[in-house]
Amino acid sequence: REIFRREVEESELLSGLGSTDLAAGLFFSILDPGDEIIITNPCYLNYTRQIEIIGRLGVNIKRWQTIKNGKFIPDLDELQSLITDKTKLILLVTPGNPDGQVFDERVLDGVVDIASEKGILVAIDVAYRAFHYEDGVPSYLSRPRRENEVWIVTLSKELRVPGWRMGYLVADPSLLRVIETIQQAMTLCPAHPQQLAFVRMLSKDGVIEELQDFLLKKTPKKYQKVASLVCDELSKTPYIQYLRPSGGFYVFFDIRGIMASSKKFVSQLLDEWQVALAPGIDFGMEGWVRLSFAPVVEDQKLLKEGMERIRRFILSKT
Ligand SMILES: Cc1ncc(COP(=O)(O)O)c(C=O)c1O
Repeated sequence: REIFRREVEESELLSGLGSTDLAAGLFFSILDPGDEIIITNPCYLNYTRQIEIIGRLGVNIKRWQTIKNGKFIPDLDELQSLITDKTKLILLVTPGNPDGQVFDERVLDGVVDIASEKGILVAIDVAYRAFHYEDGVPSYLSRPRRENEVWIVTLSKELRVPGWRMGYLVADPSLLRVIETIQQAMTLCPAHPQQLAFVRMLSKDGVIEELQDFLLKKTPKKYQKVASLVCDELSKTPYIQYLRPSGGFYVFFDIRGIMASSKKFVSQLLDEWQVALAPGIDFGMEGWVRLSFAPVVEDQKLLKEGMERIRRFILSKT
């Protein structure tokens, strides 16, 4: 409310043991075997796994291809064609993991309009909401929640505390009561010491101004700079095509000019040059790999060293 300027009622909020816990509660509460869920392709890999486990492979996952010919082109007509009377949920992540792409207002609102007409929920994971580079934070982060929206929020990334396990949902109060019941059965509650630490932090004088500066100015500026550096380095690397990110801390690139298997690419790169990337196949896109620059944001020398090793690896394979 204070930082992203969204009006939220207390009854629309539920905190959890990281957003992973809450997303599981959401899937448990609305999905039955035979139901369908639409995720983007590529999509954050943990969601596919969660849905498969929770639906015991009985939930049909449909993929809305948002990257076509190396560009981010989320087409609403294509989304519409995937919807059936079994569709329960459409899940978006913006800025995206693994691709750093941002849904603009028109498309995101278009998705919510389409879903709302058919009584479908839209879950929007904004784990990287403090990492929007160029045009500032999209207006959908500050407008009131629409009826069929579930916002999935984590403090892991924006406060750099992934191990503290703290996240929350903004959703319809009656849906939250169901998720809360499931959450109580599965994990009982978020850990108490972390909650106390957050309360203490948020009670400090001047903390809101400090967080506004950190989340809305310093973080995007710093990450945009490093993302540009990575893209400059990738531009000098032959045989690959990268997708320029608009947010987050990942760069997704096409390695099909070098080899077809993303798993083979990342395991050889790790074995031979000690650089770790994530295989695109885990996110639904074979032939691509994800680079996370988060671990080297503070160390540009190490970043350049890593990029140089990737280049030398590629040259050794072509
Ligand atoms: C898109 C996205 N959502 C959620 C998470 C995990 O959030 P949490 O630490 O709150 O469980 C991640 C972690 O990588 C992520 O990339």
